[in-house]
This record gives sequence, C-alpha cells and structure tokens, in this order.
Amino acid sequence: MRVLIVGSGYVGLTTGSALAYLGHQVTLLDINEERIMRLKDGEIPIHERGLAEVIGESRQNIEFIARWEEFDSSVDIVIVAVGTPNKGNGDVDLTYVEVVAKAIGERLTADSDPVVINKSTVPIGSARRVKTIIEQEMKKRDIHKQIDVASNPEFLREGEALFDTFYPDRIVIGVESDKAKNRLINLYQPLLEQTFTPPVSVRRPEGLTLPHMITTSPTSAELIKYAANSFLAMKISFINEFAGLAELVGADINEVAKGIGQDKRIGSRFLNAGIGWGGSCFGKDTAAIMYTANQYNFEMPLVQAAIKTNYKQRESIIRKLQSELKVLRGSTIGILGLAFKPNTDDLRDAPSLDIIRGLLELGANVKVYDPIAMANCKRLYPDLIISYASSSEELFEDCHAVVLITEWEEFLHLPYSRIAERMRTKLIVDGRNVLDKEGIVRAGITYKGIGRGE
Ligand code: UDX
Repeated sequence: MRVLIVGSGYVGLTTGSALAYLGHQVTLLDINEERIMRLKDGEIPIHERGLAEVIGESRQNIEFIARWEEFDSSVDIVIVAVGTPNKGNGDVDLTYVEVVAKAIGERLTADSDPVVINKSTVPIGSARRVKTIIEQEMKKRDIHKQIDVASNPEFLREGEALFDTFYPDRIVIGVESDKAKNRLINLYQPLLEQTFTPPVSVRRPEGLTLPHMITTSPTSAELIKYAANSFLAMKISFINEFAGLAELVGADINEVAKGIGQDKRIGSRFLNAGIGWGGSCFGKDTAAIMYTANQYNFEMPLVQAAIKTNYKQRESIIRKLQSELKVLRGSTIGILGLAFKPNTDDLRDAPSLDIIRGLLELGANVKVYDPIAMANCKRLYPDLIISYASSSEELFEDCHAVVLITEWEEFLHLPYSRIAERMRTKLIVDGRNVLDKEGIVRAGITYKGIGRGE
C-alpha cells in the first residue's frame, strides 16, 4: 500500500520505517526541513533500538519529504503522527493536527480515496474534528466528498518502539466504515499474521501469540489510549502507595509486588515501586483525561489520586535524605541518572529534575551523572546550578549521599567498597529498588530503598 506519514517524531519515524520494512511504500513528511535533510543523509535523529537497521533495510520503500507540494493525493493511507503538546492546564493543543488536516483537505481531489488515521494521542472527538476540517477544505474547492478518518492509537514505549510496533499485544482501530476497516487490516496484515522476517536487532520473542485486531468506534479507540495509559500510571502509583505503608509496617514492597503479581488477574508488570513515572505520556495523558472529565463535570478520583501519589514520590526522596542527613544545606548530593528511564536521553517530566530543584532550594550542592542525558540537561536547563561528573564512580567523590534515579544497566554493578572510600558520609538512596542491598551494606554504606521496611 502507499502510505503517507505526517510527522517524523518517534511515533511517525518508527511507524513509518516499520511499515516500509513490512513492504509498504512509505512517504514521511515533516515540515522541519533540517530533520528531513538529516534523514535523507541517513542520520537517525532519535535513540530507538533497531531503528538504524530497519531504516537501512527499507531504504527502497521509504522517502522523506519536507513540502506539502509533494503530497500525492492518490495515496491509500495518511497517518497523522504530529505532536499534541499539553497547554499546561491539561488541555491538549491540537494546532498541529488541525494544520495537517487542513493541508490534506486542500490537496485531496475528487478522485482521491485515502483513509486518514489519527495516530497521535488526541482528545475525544478528534477523529470527527479532523474529518470536518478536511471535508470543509474540499468543499471550498467544490469537492463534496466523505472522507474516512480512523483512530488507531499507538502503545509504543520509548526505546522499544520498534519492538512494540512489530510485536504488539493488540492493534486497536476505531473506524466508521468497512472500507476503512479493510484498509487497516491490509496495512497491518504482516503483523497480524507475523509473516515478515524479523530484523536482527528486534527479534521476535519466543512464544509470541498473534496480536488481535480490536475494531471499535473512533471515540472508543480514542478513549482506549487514555484508559490504557491511565491504568498503567495508576498501577505504578498503587504499588508506590503500598510502598509507603510497607515502610511503616516493616514489609518489603518488592516481596509484596512479587506476591500479588503472580496472580494472573493482577499481572507482575508495572509493579516496580520507586520514584514513580515520568516521560512524555503518563503525565500528559492523565492530565488530559482529567481535563476531559472536567468538561463533563465528571470526577475521576482514581486517576487524580494516581497523579498526586506520583509526584509525592519525588518529594519522598528529599524527605528520606532529610531524615538521614538532617541538614541538606551545604551537603553534596549525587544524582545517578537524569533520564526518565534507561536507554533514552529524554528528560520530559523526568523525576530527576524535580528532585534536583528541590535539593537546590534547600541549599544542597548537586552533582549528577547520566550516560547520555547530560548533554540534553545542559542544553535545556542551563539555569540549573549543578555539576556534572565524568563517570558514575567519580560522582561519589565527596558526596554525603547518592540517589539512584534512573536504573541504567551500568549503575547496577558498582564497586561499592571503592566508592564508599570516596564518600563523605556513606548513604545510598535507591530510587528504583534495583541495587544490591547486601553488597552496599557490606561495604559499610547505609542503604535506603523505597518501601523496603528498613
Ligand atoms: C508509556 C507506555 O508504556 C506506552 O504504552 C505509551 O504509548 C507511552 O507511555 P514510555 O513513557 O516510553 O511508555 O515508558 P514506560 O517504559 O512505560 O515507563 C514510563 C514510566 O513509568 C518510566 O518513568 C518508568 O520508570 C516508570 N515505571 C514503569 C515505574 O516507575 N514502575 C514500573 O513498574 C514501570
């Protein structure tokens, strides 16, 4: 099929390259000319496992364009994957989606017959909004035609976006016609039947069950995306709430999570207690669904509590440091990891930033180390008065405490006796409950986890 993808962010780029790899003819359009030039030159602008290989292998099926003038109105599918930022009050800024809808409407002809897909995370009613804009634009040119707009949300994790694209648990399509449904089935056929040869760097997992296609109305599909992310966010906050209680009653939350996670109705994933979620999705999507509910004067106390608990986790790190060190003014605190999760340099809604700001406000000196996110931090937050260590080991030099924020692989096996000698007071706060507690204590360092009942 011939597919146009609008937006070359992590969703557009990974979806586009995966579809090209599956054999579709993909055109990726982004008005950011510099980014398109770089993509044409073979540069990969984001950190995504397997992306270089997948783009490299599908070069003949993918082209990059920066101008709407090159739009081919006879395309089968248009996928809208542009940004939908938060306005700051939870409301979603649909400007980019609307501009794209208008651009499509201005260019479709009487013979065009594409199905337009909203892949960006958009508020309820956006499929209808896009359809109206496109059809209105066409009407201005005296073309009276119904355009199919479907909702097809993505469930991609950053860093694993290609894996999640090739091996989805399910594919949700919100459609209003058989034509749209059949076209989406054709688009995703290789994934539904797993008939493609997997890329070397994104191997098919053993025992994979074939994904289901779930067909719904566009509105249900839009709500599914928000419900999925809110549920996962709530699951994390749930275990974090119990972590707080575990500390008081003297239980270990890792043991509790294991004990409940083996119940298949609960499931063991997303039960890792710690400093809570960050990133570009959970915070934004929970705020957006609260905003929508509010428009209907409807309360969602569970989602609201999940948000509150999440941000309380960040403060709890500072409370832990205060209770151990008493005075933070003048203390040196090391921060291991800046990114909101490992294997990315993404700092959006990263817990590290709130914790660093809190520490600075209390007069502490802050030193940080992250394998790849430090450059982003320097660029985006030049106002932060912090120092940057040259390695994870060097970070410990002269610290009164070190807090693990991001569970990078290289932080999991530190030489504790060596680093103990470099610290002023020996305290490690394990914000992700992943460090070797016994090893740390053996080296004479005090260990504080989250919900570990010490
Ligand atoms: C998430 C969803 O997983 C994905 O389906 C959606 O499309 C976008 O949002 P992502 O933000 O890339 O993906 O990261 P994910 O790996 O899900 O982690 C989100 C945050 O939750 C991270 O900060 C992570 O550290 C935290 N987390 C995750 C926990 O604190 N505990 C857990 O058990 C799992």
